[in-house]
Amino acid sequence: MKTLKRIGILTSGGDAPGMNPCIRAIVRAATAEGISCIGIRRGYAGLINSDIFELSNSAVDGLTKQGGTILYTARCDEFRQEEYQKKGAATCKHLGLDGVIALGGDGTFRGAEALSRQGVMVVGVPATIDNDMGCTEYTLGFDTACNTALDAIDKLRDTGQSHERVSVVEVMGRNAGHLALYTGLAAGASAVLLPERPVNFEKDVLEVIRRGCIRGRRHHIVVIAEGVGHATTYAKRIQDATGIEARVTVLGYIQRGGVPSARDRASAGLMGVHALDCLRRYDEAQAVVIQKGDIAHLPLHEANGMVRSLDETMSTICNRVDGSWYWDR
Ligand code: F6P
Repeated sequence: MKTLKRIGILTSGGDAPGMNPCIRAIVRAATAEGISCIGIRRGYAGLINSDIFELSNSAVDGLTKQGGTILYTARCDEFRQEEYQKKGAATCKHLGLDGVIALGGDGTFRGAEALSRQGVMVVGVPATIDNDMGCTEYTLGFDTACNTALDAIDKLRDTGQSHERVSVVEVMGRNAGHLALYTGLAAGASAVLLPERPVNFEKDVLEVIRRGCIRGRRHHIVVIAEGVGHATTYAKRIQDATGIEARVTVLGYIQRGGVPSARDRASAGLMGVHALDCLRRYDEAQAVVIQKGDIAHLPLHEANGMVRSLDETMSTICNRVDGSWYWDR
């Protein structure tokens, strides 16, 4: 076990609800043990430019219920270059940091690994609404984002029902369909289009809508993951082919904001404190993960090599519940 005196915390990439409660948990646990915390602003950009501040206990007051990140966040292209990674490591050395905890998604973890190659002890905490990291079953922010999307779809259903329309809803997720899949199941969508699955538009979407109409269904929800393409294109095709009015809603950035859910707040505490323990116990960079429902960790370079696939059980269950999803028929 190492004795830690001073640690740095940064958030990088897209913000996620749960980042703030996680920062709070780390600071609270660290200061209780006499470890001082340095906040690094705007992720790796702040590390390069020494944009830092003292993170006291009072600085994190009230963060359990705040979305976003008080550390600000950025996507820092410069940090892909070794020259800047060395600069970041020099900042850590200059500040006397015993280690850095980096919160974010895949890009953040790659940055953390690069920083560790420059001799800095780093621990990554998975935080992205996309839940698309191979090393972990859960990333902070996913649950809140699903609930935000679900709340919006429930509202769209009201107006869709009234006008007997098809609501085509585009959800975030970059190249992954986890957010769309989970939200689609929860919302009872007629069809969900995911980048991981090839779609036969006639059979998988139009036929489903037509069958629904024969059964007396007067409105339909179609969820589209942003990685599949533009929702407007699909809505036009649906309207042209079925004669039913289709309207598009792109949920966009509202999915990244809002009060973190209970799951995200609790997971933030669990992951944050576990990250602090990893800093103390290891000399090799680590990733905090959830595996088989439990908190765990693994070497960061291993974590970064892992690929996330779509949840097969969930997609099968979706098909049995709604009987209309395309990939298992
Ligand atoms: O990774 C989180 C995410 O919100 C993705 O779902 C989305 O594709 C992307 O970030 C948007 O990134 P930016 O904030 O750079 O527009």
